[in-house]
Amino acid sequence: MFLYSSYMLTAALLVTCHALHPGNNEISGILRLPGRVGQEVQSHLLGLVRPPGRDRRPWLPGLPDFLNTELHKILVHLKNRLCRLERVLVFRGKISKAGEKIFASNGKQVDFAAALGSCEEAGGTLATPRNEAENKAILDIVKQYKRYAYLGIKEGETSGRFKYINGMPLNYTKWHRYEPNGRGSEKCVEMYLDGSWNDKRCHMDRLTVCEF
Ligand SMILES: *[C@@H]1O[C@H](CO)[C@@H](O)[C@H](O)[C@H]1NC(C)=O
Repeated sequence: MFLYSSYMLTAALLVTCHALHPGNNEISGILRLPGRVGQEVQSHLLGLVRPPGRDRRPWLPGLPDFLNTELHKILVHLKNRLCRLERVLVFRGKISKAGEKIFASNGKQVDFAAALGSCEEAGGTLATPRNEAENKAILDIVKQYKRYAYLGIKEGETSGRFKYINGMPLNYTKWHRYEPNGRGSEKCVEMYLDGSWNDKRCHMDRLTVCEF
């Protein structure tokens, strides 16, 4: 019981808000939870959030009905509260969102290593756009501060071959015209105020934008 409920509360915090409309007080539809653990939790949750009345089987075998109902209420409440908090932060320009990702800046301008370090210390990593929507969400922050930002992309051993900081190859790029052109001397990547990318030396002061 304790294990299940802490499991489910964790899951409730992972559920994203973007599909949830204001005033909607049900956890419904497909819950999208990241990762393998997320998938496992999700299959438990899908049982838990089955609309009451449609199926009389207990949502979680072994849990009394009243506990299932209570847990469901708690999950719905937490999700709503969390989504409202996210809306406040978006409204205040404190975060921007794309799919599962949340982007935020501390407003500081530092070199690549320091920016990456402060993102990791905060439990995230450097903002790394993987598609147009994420690039746009990062650009929202870059525009707000009117400062170029380092991205979580670096040049590999082979000059001209850029990778994510975890070493994986890029599956999305938005190079500015004639970029990258550093040919090995510019190992980092910055985002311009129009959202396009430029390869750049790594010791410049650039806006810290993290993803969480
Ligand atoms: C690249 O892969 C990531 C992770 O699988 C995905 O989120 C992203 O949408 C992909 N980008 C494109 C342009 O397909």
